[in-house]
Amino acid sequence: MISNETIERIRDAARIDEVVGEFINLKKRGANLLGLCPFHNERTPSFTVSPAKGFYKCFGCGASGDSVKFVMEHEHYTYPEALRFLAKKYHIEIEESTPSPQYLEEQSQKEVLYTVMSYAAQFFLDNLWNDSKGQAIGLSYFHERGFSDEIIRKFQLGYAQDEWTHFTQSALERGFKVEYLKATGLMSSGEKQVDVLRGRVIFPIHSITGRVIGFGGRTLKADKNIPKYINSPESEIYNKSQALFGLFFARNSIVKENNCFLVEGYTDVISLHQAGIENVVSSSGTSLTTGQINLIKRYTNQVTVLFDGDAAGIKASFRGIDMILEEGMHVQVVLFPDGEDPDSFARKSNKEDLFSFLEKEKKDFIRFKADVLMKDAGNDPIKKGAVIKDMVQSISIVPDGIMRSLYIQQCAQLMQVDEPVLFNELNKVRRQRLKKNLSEAEMLIENDQSPAQTKPSEQIYPIVTHSYDQERELLRLMLNYGHDMLEFHQENDEGEDELITYSVFDFISADLITEEILPDHPVYAIIFEECRRLMPQYTLEQIHQYFIRHVDDEVRTTAIDLISPHYMLSPQWEEKYKIYITKEKDIIYHVILEALHQFKARRLIQIIEKEKSKLNEPVNEEELIQILENIKYLESIKKTILDDLTTVIYPK
Ligand code: GTP
Ligand code: MN
Repeated sequence: MISNETIERIRDAARIDEVVGEFINLKKRGANLLGLCPFHNERTPSFTVSPAKGFYKCFGCGASGDSVKFVMEHEHYTYPEALRFLAKKYHIEIEESTPSPQYLEEQSQKEVLYTVMSYAAQFFLDNLWNDSKGQAIGLSYFHERGFSDEIIRKFQLGYAQDEWTHFTQSALERGFKVEYLKATGLMSSGEKQVDVLRGRVIFPIHSITGRVIGFGGRTLKADKNIPKYINSPESEIYNKSQALFGLFFARNSIVKENNCFLVEGYTDVISLHQAGIENVVSSSGTSLTTGQINLIKRYTNQVTVLFDGDAAGIKASFRGIDMILEEGMHVQVVLFPDGEDPDSFARKSNKEDLFSFLEKEKKDFIRFKADVLMKDAGNDPIKKGAVIKDMVQSISIVPDGIMRSLYIQQCAQLMQVDEPVLFNELNKVRRQRLKKNLSEAEMLIENDQSPAQTKPSEQIYPIVTHSYDQERELLRLMLNYGHDMLEFHQENDEGEDELITYSVFDFISADLITEEILPDHPVYAIIFEECRRLMPQYTLEQIHQYFIRHVDDEVRTTAIDLISPHYMLSPQWEEKYKIYITKEKDIIYHVILEALHQFKARRLIQIIEKEKSKLNEPVNEEELIQILENIKYLESIKKTILDDLTTVIYPK
C-alpha cells in the first residue's frame, strides 16, 4: 500500500509535460503543447497538453486525464504500478503504509476479489513452471499445442493440479476468507471446501487495465462427460458482458490496424498472437453482447469475424453480428476451411500465408450472409422470399443511409431481385420500427424517463426531451469564470445608487436555484452539486485539479472537456491577418445571460410539449379547456423569453 502522503508527493512532482514528453514528441503551441495522440491513429496532431493545468486531452478521440492516468493508459499499468513508475522517475521514496486489520476490513469487497484473483493467477503460474507435475502435464500440453514459452508467459497461462484442495488450502492458509474464495468461483459453492478448477490448464481473463478478473480452465481429459472448459462465474469484478478475452493485449494493435479480429476461443486468440496478429479478441463461449461491442468500438469501427467452418454455428452467430451492424460498425467475415479453426490454421501456416489468407478470404458480412442463405434456399421461391426478408432486416438496422443503399444494390445483384423490390421491403421494415419507437418514446416521456437509455441509432426525438447542451454551457461558464466578479448598479432602500458585486458562479447558481431548474443530465448534475460545495472554499485552480483527478471517469472527462481551450488560435493570426477575436471574458455578462435564457427557453419548450401531449389522451371538456389555457399561458412566457434571445433556439 502506497501511503497517501507519497501519492500526493508523486502527483505534485509528476509534471504532465515531462511525463507525456517522455513518450511522445510535443511541440509548443501558445500556452499548451501539441503532439500526435498515442491513443488513436492520426496524422495531424490533436493531442493537447496543458502544463499549467496539469492535464492532457485529445480532441480527436477524447482521451484525457492527469499524468498518473496517462501512464496507466499508455503503459497499461494499474494505478499502483503507474505511481511506482512515476516515483522512480522523480526519485521519490515510496512510504508503504502497512494495511491495518481494520483497513482490510474496510477495503472494498472488489479490491479483495482482485487480490484473490491475482493470488490465484500467480499460484497457477507457479504450478505450471515450477512444479514437476505441472511441467510434465500442463507445460508440455501447451508445448504440444505449439505455444512458445514467450507466449505462455505473456498470457500468464497456468495449471491447476488434479487435486481436490490444492488451491483452496493454500489460499485459506494465506488468510483469504471462504466467502471471497466462493465469490470468485475458485472454491465450490457447496458445503465441501474444494477446488473448482482441477487438472486443467488455466487461461486468465484480464480487465482492460490488465488485472485478472476471471479464468477459463480447459480439461486435459478425453472424458466426454466432463465439460471441456470451466469458466469463472460473474462476480463483482467480472461482468461477462463487459469483458473480452485478449483485449488487454490487443488494444494498441487494434488502434494501429484500425480493425479487430473476433474469434471464438482462448486458443484462437493466443495462436494468432503467436503468428503476429495481435488485434484479436474472443468473447469466450458466451454470445456477443452490446457491452462487448462497445468495448471494441472505443478502439476501432471495424470488426472482422473469424468463423470455423460449420454451417449451423455460422447461422447461429448471424444475430450477434447484426448487433455489431446496429452499432454502426463495419463488419467483415472470414470463413475457415472445413475442420479448421483460427488456432489450427495459424499453427499450420507461416505468417505470410496466414496474412494473405485473411486478406483474400475477407468478405463483407452482408454479402457473406446473402451467399450462405441463398445457397440454402436454392431455387425454392418460398425459401428465397424468406431470405430476402431476412437480408432486408439486417440491412435495415445499419444506421447510415448511404451504406444501406449500397447494401441494397449489392443484395439485389446477388439475389437477382429488382432493387425497387428490396427498397420497398426496406421501407416497410423501417416504417414498422419507427412506429414502434415512437410509441416507446411517448411512453418514456409519460413516465418522465430520460430517453438516454435507448440506443443512439434508434433514438428518435419526436418531442424536445432534454436540455443537456444548455446545461453543459452553463457548467462551462461556471468552471472557467466562476470567480470572476460581475458588477451591478442597484437602488438601495434610501433610493441611492449602489454598486453590488456577484461572482459569476453565485450569479448563475442563485438564478437556477430560485427558479428551481437544475441540470437533468446525471453527470452535469454531479458537477453542479460538487461546484456548489467547492466554489465557496477553493480557488478555480484547485477546483480544476479536483476534477482532473476525479475518480468517476465520466465526471473527469466531461470536466476536462469543459475547461479545455477549444479554439487555439495561433498568435500569428492576429499579427498576420489582423484578425482580432473578441475575448469571451470581455463580454462575459452577455454570454451568461444568453446561456441562462437558452436554458430556460429549452426547459419551457419541454413543459409545453408535455402539456400538449395530454391532448392525445381522452379528456373531458373541462380538462380540455384547462390544458389549452395552460398552453396559451406557457406560450406567452416562451415568447418573452425567446424575444430576449439573440440566438434563436429550435427544438431538436
Ligand atoms: P481447443 O479445443 O482447446 O482448441 O479449445 P477451443 O477454444 O478451440 O474450444 P472450442 O472451439 O470448443 O470452444 C470455443 C470457446 O467456447 C472456448 O474457448 C470456451 O470459451 C467455450 N467453451 C467450449 N467448451 C465449453 C464448455 O464445455 N463449457 C463452457 N462454459 N465453455 C466452453
Ligand atoms: Mn480449437
